[in-house]
Amino acid sequence: MDRRELVRSMWVFGRVRGPRAMRSAWRQRRADAVGLPPRGPERARVPGRVTGVEPLPGGGIVRFARSVLRVCVSAGGTVFWGWDGAEPLPSYALAGEVPEPDARVVLEPDTDGGWRVVAERVTVAVSRNGAVEVRTPGGVVLRRDLPPRWWEPVGGGEARWVQRSEVPADARFFGLGGRAGGPRLRDGVYRLWNSDPRGSFGPQDDPLYVTMPVHWVVADAGTHLAFHDNPWDGRVTLREGGEGAGSGHDRPGLVEVRMSGGPLRCWVVVGTPARVLRGWTQLTGAPAVPPSWALGPQHARWGFGSAEEVRRVVAGYREHDLPLAALHLDIDHYDGHRVFTVDRERFPDLPGLAAELREQGVRLVSIVDPAVKAEPGGAVYEDGARVGARGAFVRDARGEVVRGVVWPGECVYPDFTDPAVRGWWGRLYEERLAQGFAGVWHDMNEPVSFTPFGDMTLPRSARHALEGRGGDHREAHNVYALAMARAGYEGLARLRPRERPFLFSRSGWVGMQRYGGTWSGDVATGWPGLRASLSLALGLGLCGVPYSGPDVGGFDGFPSPELYLRWFQLGAWLPLFRTHAAIDAGRREPWEFGPKVLEYARAALEERERLRPYFVSLARLARLTGAPYARPLWWGAPEDRVLRECEDAFLLGDALLVAPVLTRGTDRRAVRLPRGRWYDMVTGQSYEGPGQVLVEAPLSRVPVLVRAGAVVPVRGEEGTTELEVWAPAPGRSGGGLVVRDPGDGWERADVERYVTRWVDGEVRVELVTDAGAVAVGPAGVRVRGLGVTGGGEGRG
Ligand code: GLC
Repeated sequence: MDRRELVRSMWVFGRVRGPRAMRSAWRQRRADAVGLPPRGPERARVPGRVTGVEPLPGGGIVRFARSVLRVCVSAGGTVFWGWDGAEPLPSYALAGEVPEPDARVVLEPDTDGGWRVVAERVTVAVSRNGAVEVRTPGGVVLRRDLPPRWWEPVGGGEARWVQRSEVPADARFFGLGGRAGGPRLRDGVYRLWNSDPRGSFGPQDDPLYVTMPVHWVVADAGTHLAFHDNPWDGRVTLREGGEGAGSGHDRPGLVEVRMSGGPLRCWVVVGTPARVLRGWTQLTGAPAVPPSWALGPQHARWGFGSAEEVRRVVAGYREHDLPLAALHLDIDHYDGHRVFTVDRERFPDLPGLAAELREQGVRLVSIVDPAVKAEPGGAVYEDGARVGARGAFVRDARGEVVRGVVWPGECVYPDFTDPAVRGWWGRLYEERLAQGFAGVWHDMNEPVSFTPFGDMTLPRSARHALEGRGGDHREAHNVYALAMARAGYEGLARLRPRERPFLFSRSGWVGMQRYGGTWSGDVATGWPGLRASLSLALGLGLCGVPYSGPDVGGFDGFPSPELYLRWFQLGAWLPLFRTHAAIDAGRREPWEFGPKVLEYARAALEERERLRPYFVSLARLARLTGAPYARPLWWGAPEDRVLRECEDAFLLGDALLVAPVLTRGTDRRAVRLPRGRWYDMVTGQSYEGPGQVLVEAPLSRVPVLVRAGAVVPVRGEEGTTELEVWAPAPGRSGGGLVVRDPGDGWERADVERYVTRWVDGEVRVELVTDAGAVAVGPAGVRVRGLGVTGGGEGRG
């Protein structure tokens, strides 16, 4: 145990009634000792030589001496392959139907005794000993998966496996869920096991709450995403390649996926980043659209403590003229930390309080933890015990209900992989709605059981329904929060059918975007934590989860006014914009840091509110196209190697480039620009990309640049939506997609497509309709970027 781990153990020990957590850790150890088969001798296996093929729609089956491989290319160009009979279903990741195979695909002999599946957009070549190559139609290799290797326990049981892949020497890696040390994933080993890092985390901490076996490979030859659909514990080793500086001896990049069990099957989506995410969210589900208020500023704290304190804080926002859309209540509003209860002494009339706040335009959001206090007479505990024949709670291999330790003390855990349990749990949200809550915040759902050592979760031998198939926690762990999100989302949608649920969850897995978003979790207060916040949001967006954001100000400790402000300014440009902190941390209200910070935080809040229509538009477009609101700078130009390295700025939709300040004492910063003209949104100064420019970054704001020609929907004076149009560069045109807010229900949203161009020395804005282009404005349109001063050309 190194020092850091020791400190963390003490953290758990101190905070969470040590002796109980200690007992629980021993219990977990014992449970696994009797509940898991011992790992005896193993036999290694590789596929061996090819023995035959069988064409099927979309590809076919290639038989080997000791395995079979199914390859299928779907009509949309998405590639699936599965070894040893693995099929796409069952899967927790997939949204529903497996994509239709592409009927035009042909299976034909390849050179050297192998076979290849040739589709319009990709070719999948299978060598005679089981290597699988994904190639562009022009024959360029995007990845080469070497023949896999399995280790099978001689006495029977789950085989573990490894798959190594080579990717182009210039490739960069992204993804793997929420990783703090990215967004570009450096060489190293990344574990696939959703984990509470024990206390707050920084860029060096891994894994965190949301891990996913999904990696992006961004290379000159093309971009692709690969998803090993398998929720078991695993490790992904990444090693960037190297180019032989003209010697012709490139060292390929390497990805090694090592899984402790579960199927060996993979999806590969190839294309531009936009195309990849479209294919990805078609496969794993369209992101839920948060209600528009959830795109406004939100404030939370563990330890508001009482209704009076809540009123005081909300009044503070009002008195300081700061917009606030939602306030979140943490576990301290529960009765003894018990989920689905209220401390009636400190919150005597929660529905009344909710209504009062609602009048002021502030919604209440409730934390929901999965663990239920194990106590006779506890309503949820007793009720859960009556679900189905065996009750709702996870049991161990001997049939005893598993107990862990969380905030309320000894707890039991609903088995969300059981549809009946999900139904029961979803109905419990009725109580939350009756208390006046407008949305929920799922927490501690990795799931956590506090232990001073070992894994802070359930025993690996704990049994789960897994939709009736049956299995243990080794398989269910990573999908636990995903299944909880499903329970919550479906419950809310049933209970309040006219409104879209608002839900975000600390842990999750591939497909969680179907039910809502996520947030950073307990990011450590400090400049490295600020940087980690951005890494998480970008990585999650690339994995299909567009709605997330950090605990603004950091979860623990006391940020300096400058750090708080810079965090606030970053948060204001991320989808989930929420201040939050631990019970023993310093305050996070904007007026607690002096008049300057208050003034600049107000400016950030006002700008966020002005841009609310843009955020609404991005939320809708994320659902329609899979494109995350916040995207890495290489989004539109993955072939630009310099942009691939850029980690301190991001694109917000198609129109904006946000360059947050991530270091102390900064008043200007370098910004890497993609191709084209960009305007500073505040000063209007223009810059020409590609290249690097130095821009002002005073304490009052972080630089935000707008792409020339862009159309940005903003809130006008009267609360109506106006179009802010930025002049195209001379001789160029531009445009943008706008989706207006049709409400917080299930209304269909129409996408408006605008084009902008110069006509007779004026900027013309047109709406493209079926009947042709219709000029819009001048009412409701404001053209900016006219007569601007040039800030210069980008360099380098
Ligand atoms: C966890 C959450 C944090 C919350 C706390 C108490 O640490 O990540 O956001 O405040 O639990 O519920």
